[in-house]
This record gives sequence, structure tokens and C-alpha cells, in this order.
Amino acid sequence: MPTKPTPEMQKWCLDEKGQPRIDKGAENLCMDESEICFIDGFNSKLYYRGYNIEDLAKYSTYEETTYLLWYGKLPTRSELDSFSEQLRNNRDIPQGAYDLIKLIPRDTHPMEALRTVVSYLGNVDPEKEKLDLGSMPAKAIRLTAKLPTVVAALARSREGKEPIKPRKDLSHAANFLYMLTGNVPSDFWARAMDVSLILYAEHEMNASAFATVVVGSTLSDYYSSIVGGIGALRGPLHGGANEEAMKQFLEIGSPENVDVWYKENILTGKKRVMGAGHRVYKTYDPRAKIFKEYAKKAVEVSKDSKLRKIYDVAERLENLVMSQLCESRGICTNVDYWSGIVYYAMGIPIEQYTPIFAVARVAGWSAHLMEYVARNRILRPRLYYKGWLDLEYVPIEKRG
Ligand code: CMC
Repeated sequence: MPTKPTPEMQKWCLDEKGQPRIDKGAENLCMDESEICFIDGFNSKLYYRGYNIEDLAKYSTYEETTYLLWYGKLPTRSELDSFSEQLRNNRDIPQGAYDLIKLIPRDTHPMEALRTVVSYLGNVDPEKEKLDLGSMPAKAIRLTAKLPTVVAALARSREGKEPIKPRKDLSHAANFLYMLTGNVPSDFWARAMDVSLILYAEHEMNASAFATVVVGSTLSDYYSSIVGGIGALRGPLHGGANEEAMKQFLEIGSPENVDVWYKENILTGKKRVMGAGHRVYKTYDPRAKIFKEYAKKAVEVSKDSKLRKIYDVAERLENLVMSQLCESRGICTNVDYWSGIVYYAMGIPIEQYTPIFAVARVAGWSAHLMEYVARNRILRPRLYYKGWLDLEYVPIEKRG
């Protein structure tokens, strides 16, 4: 006779009243202690290793922020110089990676292409045999240094252009923009990219950090873990939202269309505002505020009337979100809302926005991987089983 499991058989899933304790989306799961990042989602605050994101965006660089995330303290001048030099010295990618990039079909989404090339870099890493924690910082430096080169080469290959080799005399952000566009950026654009990388560098146990740590918790290798993170980041509910936000502004087209679009798509529940809402922030995302300032400056500096129109669309839609969704339901604009406008002003194609997020977030993924694996326990949650047990196996020819 078919049966169902007794509550006793899965008691780890029951609360005190004997009801299944389901945490859909793992919203209330506090899976470990950490010293990397704190999000104060009720007061619009974000801290990396105790430092306020607003201060980091004002005073730090991506190189310094990455050092902070990995080693838990701000570097001294000589520590930062040495760390930055290691990054500069590891920017080149092997010829095999360039060859592979040429083989990837041009219509492949750059995040899928990135996943493929990162996997290949793992195949040729000089310490690929080592799975231990000790080999991780050096691998993290190599991959963090190479990711901009890969993303830029993929972006250019998509447009049928030859890759531009990295330069050692430029900062991480300036070199990345140089390889993407072919022009050494002015201080303003280099700093805008630098700040965007700082803002995207880390964000606690989000879906992609979780995916990274799940893979790493099996004591699998560094590259497999990061590939897991890239796969999770690609989705439109996570990193993919920066591309979707931009497409949404273009779809709306003009500020006077915003109200009708909102009524037809958001009020009817047909669509979500992309770049709004967050699992943790129930107020304005502090990163959105900083990105908005840069988006505003970017529009002024670029003097592009099309961009001005996109900005006006975004601002009008944001006003609706803030007045109708933010205060009442805690759905406010997030980091992905304004970042696209900054990248658009830089002349970067929309499908490259999520890869840029990955270029930055490798810092956070690596920090979590190192922290978790240092006190590792395999991640293995349970499910509450609602199906049958002991069903009779019917031979195929007798099945109805
Ligand atoms: N626009 C309209 N309604 C929304 C939105 C939105 N952007 N986000 C959530 N809601 C509504 C949703 O429809 C649901 O309504 P109801 O209770 O009536 O069914 C309610 O809010 C709760 O939504 P949820 O999906 O249960 O919330 P969540 O915490 O699971 O999801 C989220 C968080 C970020 C996936 C979601 O807010 C969303 O889909 N936002 C749009 C995509 C986006 O901008 N993602 C980037 C997130 S920030 C950067 C990153 O982490 O990558």
C-alpha cells in the first residue's frame, strides 16, 4: 500500500506545532557567521568590512576595496602597491583563451561566453591541481586580473573586432574601459567605472555568492565555484536586472509615456519594474543613490540628447516607484536601476552590463569562498517531502 512519510520521518522540517517549517527563498536562513559585509536594509546602509559604502565610493579604488574584502583591513601604501602590481602583472590571458573566444558563436549572451572562458582559465591555471584554501588567494588574484581582459575581448569579438591587449600603466578600471572601447578614458570616466566596480564588488549572501559557496563547500576548485556564481548572476532577478532596466527605459522611450506604461504594465501586475525591489533593502538602496549621482553627471558630461531622454524616463519612473511602491511596500529602486545609464554613457553595449557586474563581483565571491571554506561544512539543506512512498513498480507494458 502506498503511504506518506510520517512527520517523525522528517522532523527536522517541523516547527513546535508540528507544521512544516518551509523557508522558501531561504529568506530567514542565517547559514553562517561572517565578517565581510553588512546590509542595513531598513536604514539604507551598506558596509564592507565595517566601512560605509559611501566612504568607499568617495575615497577608495577597486583594487583597495578588493584587498579590504579579502584580507579584512585597509592596506598600507606598500601593501596596496604590491597587490595592485600583482593584479597588473596577471592581466594577460593565454592565446588559447583568445582562440576559444573566437570560437564562441557571436549570438551567445556574453555571460554564457564568460562562464565558458572562466572554465577554460581554470583548465590552464598553474595551480589547477590544488584544491586547498592556501592556493585560493593567488588564484583569486589571477582571475580578478584576467576577467576584464576576457570580458573586453568577448565584447569586441561579438562585434567582429580584434581584442585589445591590457596595459600595465592603467588602473584596473581605466584599463578595462580602454580594452572595451579602444580609448584611454578621461579621469571622469575612469573614476565612474572604478566607483561602479566598488559598488558592485560585494553584497553578502546573495544568490550568486551562495551558488559560489555551495560549490566551494564540496571542496571543489576555485574556478568551478566562480563559474557557479557567474551562472547565478546572469539571471534577470539578480545581476541580469541592470540590462533589463535599461531595456525597460528604452521600451518606454519618452518621459511622457512613463505613466501609461506604468499603469498598463506595473499596476496590472504584467511586469515588474526592473531595477526595483530587493530581498534585503526595504528602503532606498544606498548604491542606487551613488549610481544616480554618477548617471546625472554622465548625462551632463556626455551632452547626448538621447541619453538625457533615457535619464528623464528613468527619473520619472523612479518617482512613481518611490511614491507608490517604496514607502507602502518596500519596493524601491536598487543598484541595477541607474548603473546602465552610466555604462550607456560610456558607449558600452547593453549586453555587457551584467559581465561588468561579474568583473566587480569576483571580489565578493572570492572573499566569501575563502571565509566559508576556512571553516567549511558542506551545504546540504533538506526538503519537506510531500509525495508518496512504497508505490508498486508497474512494468511498462502494463501502464495505462
Ligand atoms: N516591481 C513590481 N513588483 C515587485 C517588484 C518589482 N520590481 N519586486 C517585487 N515585487 C512584488 C512582487 O510582485 C510580490 O508581490 P505580491 O506579494 O503581490 O505577489 C512582492 O513584491 C514580493 O516579491 P518577491 O518576488 O516575493 O520578493 P523577493 O524578495 O523574493 O524578490 C527581487 C526580490 C529582487 C527578485 C524582486 O524584487 C524583483 O524581481 N525585482 C526586479 C528584478 C531586480 O531588479 N533584481 C535586482 C535585484 S538587486 C541586485 C542584485 O541582487 O542582483
